[in-house]
Amino acid sequence: KKVVLAYSGGVDTSVCIPYLKKEWGVEEIIAVAVNLGQGDELEIIRKKALESGASESLVVDVKDSFIKDYAFPAIQANALYEQRYPLGTALARPLIAKVLVEMAAKYNADAIAHGCTGKGNDQVRFDLSIAALKPNLKILTPAREWGMSREEAIAYGEQFGIPAPVKKSSPYSIDKNLLGRSIEAGILEDLTVEPPEEIYEMTKAIVDTPDEPEYIDIGFTSGIPTSLNNKVKTPVQLIEELNRLAGNHGIGRIDMIENRLVGIKSREIYESPAMMVLTQVHQDLESLTLTADVTHYKQKIQETYSQIVYNGLWYSPLKVALDAFIQQTQKRVSGNIKVKLFKGNAIIVGRDSRHSLYTHDLATYSAEDKFDHKAAEGFIYVWGLPTRIWAQH
Ligand code: ARG
Ligand code: SIN
Repeated sequence: KKVVLAYSGGVDTSVCIPYLKKEWGVEEIIAVAVNLGQGDELEIIRKKALESGASESLVVDVKDSFIKDYAFPAIQANALYEQRYPLGTALARPLIAKVLVEMAAKYNADAIAHGCTGKGNDQVRFDLSIAALKPNLKILTPAREWGMSREEAIAYGEQFGIPAPVKKSSPYSIDKNLLGRSIEAGILEDLTVEPPEEIYEMTKAIVDTPDEPEYIDIGFTSGIPTSLNNKVKTPVQLIEELNRLAGNHGIGRIDMIENRLVGIKSREIYESPAMMVLTQVHQDLESLTLTADVTHYKQKIQETYSQIVYNGLWYSPLKVALDAFIQQTQKRVSGNIKVKLFKGNAIIVGRDSRHSLYTHDLATYSAEDKFDHKAAEGFIYVWGLPTRIWAQH
């Protein structure tokens, strides 16, 4: 009877409103738009839901939690799906699901609805996140069942006074938030074609980037970025400013063939300047501050962590357990990294940490060298013993 709908203002979620009412007999729809810094006019979107027939329409701002509770843990995990995608879309879904579940409780709704199609990752992330937070809550997925093409959905909406997209709608499917933009479909489905420049908003083409490098300083406290150019920043400020700085130098574009959970390979274009820089810089600071065994062990779980996030299992027990391990490793990951931004590259050029394990007296080849070279002989004898015995047989 009463349904909380994940609302973005786009065609599919707008058409969901009359569809749920007319076809599925839903009486009351509470449209919820979640503000993740996507930069849309959310007040216009809020009104559009009411015009489309929602009885209640809300905008919930969770930008701060998005960065603190979702993006920063991913940076601490050095999470990159298939070694490349910093998970901007995947990290947003569990938080949107959390907001939907909270609103369903507040408005005493009987179900949650979303407008995801049946061939993407996002439906999995929504369904599994909602299931983890509120196992018995019903989930309605009209776009997975109505079998309408995009044109048919627009025509259906027009019958109920939902205006067709004003400008000739973009041929691309775009998801965006503070962490970046995910772009697919249209001409990008031709794998032989270079992405047209028009798809990018956050990053400059290399031909247009400054001809002089720019140096920036990023400060971390226990694995979390806390300052930019030696000024303390809030999480949202830091991401916004770094997006601008790195994007201006063309940093953070990714063009990849990606394996979706539902078995499809798809061509995905991302631009994610701040996340790309922060993941790289964080990993570098770990090289300086973690012991060799922790560094190597952590690298082994990073791939699993990325797959878990990508595959919609943010609230799963394995994810929570890995978080506990990762948090334990981050206590001393503090310090400052100097980065040179230039022509699409973020190049680390300076490192400084009070928890640095780099010991100059041991590393140096100069006269100050304190390493006991003679000790190496006995070490190598013992270390190589199994190999030597094997080779003698
Ligand atoms: N393939 C990316 C992911 O799975 C991006 C998905 C974009 N989502 C969208 N609704 N356009 O995270
Ligand atoms: C969708 O169909 O929901 C977008 C694509 C994706 O989720 O990967």
